[in-house]
Amino acid sequence: MPSVFIKTYGCQMNERDSEAVAAQLVAKGYALAPSESVADVILLNTCSVRDNAEQSAINKMENLAGQTRRRRPEVVLGFLGCMAQSRGRELIDRLPDVDLVLGTQKFHRAAEYLDELLAGTRDKIVDVAEEAGSEATIKEHLLHGRNANGANGANGGGHRPPLQVTAFVSIMQGCNQYCTFCIVPYTRGAERSRTIPDIVAECRELVARGVREITLLGQIVTSYGRRNFSSLAPNGGEGRGEGADAQQRVPTGKSAFVQLLEAVHDIEGLERIRFTSPHPKGYGDDLVEAYTRLPKLVESAHLPVQSGSDRILKLMHRGYTRERFTGIIGKLRRAQPGIGLTTDIIVGFPGETEADFEDTLSLAREVEFDNSYVFKYSPRRDTPAAAMPGQLPEEIIEERHARLLELINAIALRKYAAYAGRRVQILVEGPSRKNPARLEGRTRSNKIVVFDGGARHIGQVMDVRIERASNFTLYGDPAILNDEG
Ligand code: SAH
Ligand code: F3S
Repeated sequence: MPSVFIKTYGCQMNERDSEAVAAQLVAKGYALAPSESVADVILLNTCSVRDNAEQSAINKMENLAGQTRRRRPEVVLGFLGCMAQSRGRELIDRLPDVDLVLGTQKFHRAAEYLDELLAGTRDKIVDVAEEAGSEATIKEHLLHGRNANGANGANGGGHRPPLQVTAFVSIMQGCNQYCTFCIVPYTRGAERSRTIPDIVAECRELVARGVREITLLGQIVTSYGRRNFSSLAPNGGEGRGEGADAQQRVPTGKSAFVQLLEAVHDIEGLERIRFTSPHPKGYGDDLVEAYTRLPKLVESAHLPVQSGSDRILKLMHRGYTRERFTGIIGKLRRAQPGIGLTTDIIVGFPGETEADFEDTLSLAREVEFDNSYVFKYSPRRDTPAAAMPGQLPEEIIEERHARLLELINAIALRKYAAYAGRRVQILVEGPSRKNPARLEGRTRSNKIVVFDGGARHIGQVMDVRIERASNFTLYGDPAILNDEG
């Protein structure tokens, strides 16, 4: 039985893809290797969003080709995912030890290709073609228990109970927004949504296997169902014209995405729903209102803003203004005052002036995000921004990055500290990543809480009192557990 190790770079979508590939391989008789040093097949599931993500996967493969291959010449090496998609055969030209390059619409072919490579019936395989219906092929789950290594940890981590409390479900693939800095529309293709019944069936099965919280994943979930809405309505309901804007509503007043949330919300035994990432452009009032109406939809939102300058937002082709963004934030906070809000921000976009950057600082001060992912602009091949005038020198980007991060962190620490003394609901996920002797759960607002508890608490929703906060972690008081549990 050949064994496989998958190393994942990048976003939650990639984690989910790796898990689905691992589950498909297990179903075909492969074992999951506890580490790359003993694996017969080593796959790197790659990210292309910034240059450093690509470089780390390439460096890793160079290492594997140099060291692992020399010691074990029969090892099969492969690239999966976004960089595989965007670079294709070029990767084998550059790294001749690579046997397999599998694009983002071909994850479900992994077992078949690996069988051929292991049997020696084929030598090198590159498959980065488009495939109709591939959005519905990322369905399989391992559910062997959470582990920091993602798919590969599934058979490691002996101290963890064999139960997975949270799961990701991919609801759509691709993106049609074409932000000028972003490579995703090229690596992930056009928007393609799964049907509501298909997604609900997957969620139901997860809940039957013990999952309590589901995060619905897509590059731009507010566009869910926009392209193929008529095929989504379970009872042949009203269709929508091709190319209709996400802000247009079907006669019921609800977007396809909110209809999906409602359908998932109906699943008995499911405790919590999250989703990522929505786009401000398609963030309708029906979605804001869903937070007041659907108790399982927790008070947490990741809403990428990218910049606080209208001029830069326009150059980025984001499709909204700062005012529209802060308007949504205001509505969300009125709907759910305790909502946890996070965002993505890029510093150093071409042409960004000091004044533009100060608009981003002032937005961060105005909104007071619970946390933000701050990225240094990285030119991506074939994207319009890479050819724009005003590319900024490294030092300016570094300096702005440091200034913004300082502000973001100061606000975030204040927000975390404000939890001290409060009683919050957590869903207990498993042993703490920082200290496996303790347990870890998450608040509805998406903050990690570490506390003392027993294995019986895993998978439970319970209240704890927060004692203190440090380093983006809350520490819970076990006293309440003793009272009640
Ligand atoms: N809509 C997707 C975005 C995927 S990329 C989602 O949120 O799921 C994730 C983040 O990477 C983006 O929000 C953006 O902030 C950042 N990013 C994308 N392209 C980038 C680039 N060329 N340079 C720097 N950061 C980038
Ligand atoms: Fe990228 Fe913009 Fe889509 S950031 S994933 S093109 S919404």
